[in-house]
Amino acid sequence: MAKEKSTEQNNPMEKLVSLCKRRGFVFQSSEIYGGFAGVYDYGHYGTLLKNNIENAWWSHMVQYRDDVVGLDSAIFMHPKTWEASGHISSFDDPQVDCKKCKARMRADQLLESFGIQADKESLDFINKELDKLRKDKKLKCPICGSTDLTEAKRFSLMVKSNLGAPTDALSEENVVYLRPETCGGIYLNYKNTVDSTRVKLPFGIAQIGKAFRNEIIARQFIFRTREFEQMEMQYFLDPKDMKEKYDMWKEIRWDWYLEYGLSKNDIKWHKHEKLAHYASEAWDIEYNFKSLGGFKEVEGIHARGDWDLCQHSKFSGETLEYLDEETGKKFTPHIMETSVGLNRLFLMFLDNALVEEPVRNASHSDAGGEVNDETRTVLKLDKRLAPIKVAVFPLLKNKPELVKKAREIYDNLKTQFMCEFDDNGNVGKRYRRQDEIGTPYCITVDFDSLEKGDVTVRDRDTMKQDRIKIDELSDFLKEKLKK
Ligand code: GAP
Repeated sequence: MAKEKSTEQNNPMEKLVSLCKRRGFVFQSSEIYGGFAGVYDYGHYGTLLKNNIENAWWSHMVQYRDDVVGLDSAIFMHPKTWEASGHISSFDDPQVDCKKCKARMRADQLLESFGIQADKESLDFINKELDKLRKDKKLKCPICGSTDLTEAKRFSLMVKSNLGAPTDALSEENVVYLRPETCGGIYLNYKNTVDSTRVKLPFGIAQIGKAFRNEIIARQFIFRTREFEQMEMQYFLDPKDMKEKYDMWKEIRWDWYLEYGLSKNDIKWHKHEKLAHYASEAWDIEYNFKSLGGFKEVEGIHARGDWDLCQHSKFSGETLEYLDEETGKKFTPHIMETSVGLNRLFLMFLDNALVEEPVRNASHSDAGGEVNDETRTVLKLDKRLAPIKVAVFPLLKNKPELVKKAREIYDNLKTQFMCEFDDNGNVGKRYRRQDEIGTPYCITVDFDSLEKGDVTVRDRDTMKQDRIKIDELSDFLKEKLKK
């Protein structure tokens, strides 16, 4: 037990995973059946945080803009969609299996552990390098140490099922794919959007939704999972505007991270040197994950040319051009996209917000409040992202007059903010609990509140306490929670 605690103390990822479970942010899927690899569930606070991140993205990408509209397309699409997009023929990773312990590995990542950089598409190169390591007796399973590893083979990341089949036996004839990215639905609704809204080039279509990839390795908690959510925006434009708009979106997305509390030192750009055949430019925003030991991709910004619309036009037989009413010119718009994983952002925000610090303030100590020699764990999330905005406490649980007043305040505030009522344990414990879930303000109702009509409002980050009139609480909190 002591050993477990000490690893957790030193390991940022274990600390984060433990907080997520303890406080109901994230649970392993199907835990009572022993878990289900690469899939996670979100508890009460996790769901609230995820919704707030979604809203933060949606408001900046759609609500505050005149040139982006929304979409919510279905997960299932005509299977030809994925033939046209190239996913069926080439959305795969090179896989190696250990014949002894049955572990599955990404062959390119295995080579990387020997300092060999391999492009995941070049299977021949990968197998030659694996052979060399095998001959030198260096190739071993990183899990069990066996030297009995298979050759690298292509492994499709597409998740397949059947729909509308006459029997329940799986058949290729009735194949259907769970979308591996959300943008497919955007391309298929390009024409519907142009015909039904008043959009003019350049314009974007944004959507948030589930995507599925049969990842060979789904470790690192929620960083890479088999079921996840993407937030994607496809911006349709005249190719002459690509450079200007690409730079514009790079700046917009960069600023979004700063707006929600990331430091400039913790994010950076990574330019893709090797591009997909249709792409002319690709940059990632990377965040310096403490829990993953360094910078990793969170978002991709890609110039995709006219490839997607041309392919879907070719495979569907439908014209997907744009008529410029001013010039009379007809052409296939080019596309640039911003694409980010919601769950990956969730991990990024938690990683960035999780702080352990000594408690300095000494107040309410008579009621078991904050004392000097403690360490507190606090999630210093941007207030707009915090799952619970305000917690309301009666100082003492066994004083009905305090509980009644606190309930009254809570019932009033909960119609305006996501609030929580807590009368469990002493006030110090309640603060610790709210700190761990990132609640920006805690309100305590004490005996003075009954006489003077004011309450203590305690700030999560500074731990400073102010007396605020009950009548002014709503305006006070509205102002404080704006940003
Ligand atoms: N439409 C472009 C596209 O899907 P991508 O680089 O494959 O591009 C974009 O994915 C983003 O989606 C990534 O930067 C990451 O945030 C997220 N993502 C991709 N695969 C993921 C996975 N298996 N688990 C969690 N997030 C993932």
